[in-house]
Parts: sequence; structure tokens; C-alpha cells
Amino acid sequence: MAESPIYNPSTPLADLAQSLRQAQRVVALTGAGVSAESGVPTFRGPGGLWRNHRPEDLATPQAFKRDPRLVWEWYDWRRGLIAKVSPNPGHRALADLEHLVPEFTLITQNVDGLHRLAGSRNVLEIHGSIWEVRCTGCGRVAEDRRVPLPLMPYCEACGALLRPNVVWFGEALDPARLQTAHEALRLAEIMLVAGTSGVVQPAASFALWAKESGARLVEINPDPTPLTPYCDWVFQGKSGEVLPALLAAMKTVPV
Ligand code: OAD
Repeated sequence: MAESPIYNPSTPLADLAQSLRQAQRVVALTGAGVSAESGVPTFRGPGGLWRNHRPEDLATPQAFKRDPRLVWEWYDWRRGLIAKVSPNPGHRALADLEHLVPEFTLITQNVDGLHRLAGSRNVLEIHGSIWEVRCTGCGRVAEDRRVPLPLMPYCEACGALLRPNVVWFGEALDPARLQTAHEALRLAEIMLVAGTSGVVQPAASFALWAKESGARLVEINPDPTPLTPYCDWVFQGKSGEVLPALLAAMKTVPV
């Protein structure tokens, strides 16, 4: 039987595996595509959430002010969907990678919590978490895993309305988290970018910042993105297939 081309040391995958094994600092940026194989819909592209919903009706502070029940219904529906799914081999490979690289930072735009569930520890959830609520009155943030949520949910401490603790369009990212991400990007020798269309700022610029500071870039996505021309390695495939193959290849590299 012919050996899989993935394990041939002259393939780009083996070349990347070798470089990752030698690297001290690696960053990964993930987007909705990494959770697609778990059954979580992406935002753009076929079947994407923004195909049937307008972000300005559901994911802006103005939308919440105008119709908080509608926004909560949508988030409650997504929470119900995410509660039923599990991390896929792509999430698990990234969790594994954390053990093979001395300093590994995972920056995710995903709010679904699947990276942590897969075992990743050094995770920056720059768009927040769908499993956290934040009080619009006293600002208290709390984990809340109830599915379904009572609609509408109110703060136990002060009685004001709660909102999802996620970043909406037009809102700033948490400055401390952004600072930590910047630092990791500045020091990264290799940056993996998986499952993101690369069109939502500031995450869309992260790879270019890292490249300016000397990182080599890797893209894992079935489709090309605006970032593709800047990448040193491009794997046009699913993260749930490419990432486990990459981890398997890394484990065959002598250290
Ligand atoms: P998008 O929905 O914009 O892009 C998903 C990307 O995943 C696309 O480039 C797909 O080609 C790719 N993809 C699909 N299946 C894949 C698979 N199995 N493996 C790898 N890649 C796959 O999602 P994001 O880039 O995450 O923000 O979107 C960024 C932000 O826009 C989100 O965090 C969200 C959204 O509006 C907010 O809600 C603030």
C-alpha cells in the first residue's frame, strides 16, 4: 500500500511539522470554520448565520437596546445548539499542540468554548464567551450554562437586565486581552490561521502584525481568504483533517 503523502518528509506538511518542532513561540488564530465540523454554523459562506440574519439586528449594542428579547432569543438558540456539540479533531489537535511547543497562545474569535472543552488552556477568547452573561447595570460577569435561559435573564445582584458577554459589532475588544494577544503576535515565530475568513477587525490584521515582527504564516482553510497571498504555508482543507495530520507529522520529527 502506498504511504500517505502527508508523511513524506518532503511535503509542505512535514516541512511545517519540522519548523513547528524547532519553534519556541507559536500563535494560532481560529475562527468559526474550526467549529464547523462540530456542527456549529459559520457566519459567512454557504449555510452561514449572516446569510439568513442581519448582524445589525442581532449583534450590535443598538439591536440589543431596540429589542433585547429578539437578541436573547437568538443567543439562546445558539447556546442550545452549541450545548449539544463536542470538540472535533481540529480542536483536539490544537490542544495537543500546546504540549509540543514551549510557548503556545491560542487566540480565538469563537465564543462557543469548544477550545477549552478540548483541553486548550492558554486561550484568549477575544470575542468573549457565549457561556457568560454580563449585567447591563452593575457590570458583573458570571458564567451561566443554563439551556434554555429564562428570557429575559436578570442580574441576581442588582436586578438589571443581563446581556451575553460577547463583543458585538461596533464594540471594543477587552484591552487587557488585546494587549496579551499583541505581545504573543509580536514574539511568534510561526502563526497558524485556521477557519477564519479574515474580514473582521482587528483579528483580520493579527497575521500581518505577526508577519511584520518576523513570524511565518500558515493558513488552514478550504477556501482562499484575503490572507492567503501572505502565507508561507497554505493548506486548502478542513481544520479537522489538516491539524490532526500536522500533529501526527510533528510527533514523527526527531527532537
Ligand atoms: P466566517 O464565517 O467569516 O468564516 C469562516 C471561515 O471558515 C471561512 O473562511 C470558511 O472557508 C472556513 N471554513 C469552513 N469550514 C471549515 C473547516 N472545516 N475547516 C477550516 N475552515 C473552514 O467566521 P469568522 O472568520 O470566525 O464576530 O468570523 C469572524 C467574526 O465575524 C466572528 O467572530 C463573528 C462574526 O460576525 C462577531 O460576532 C463579533
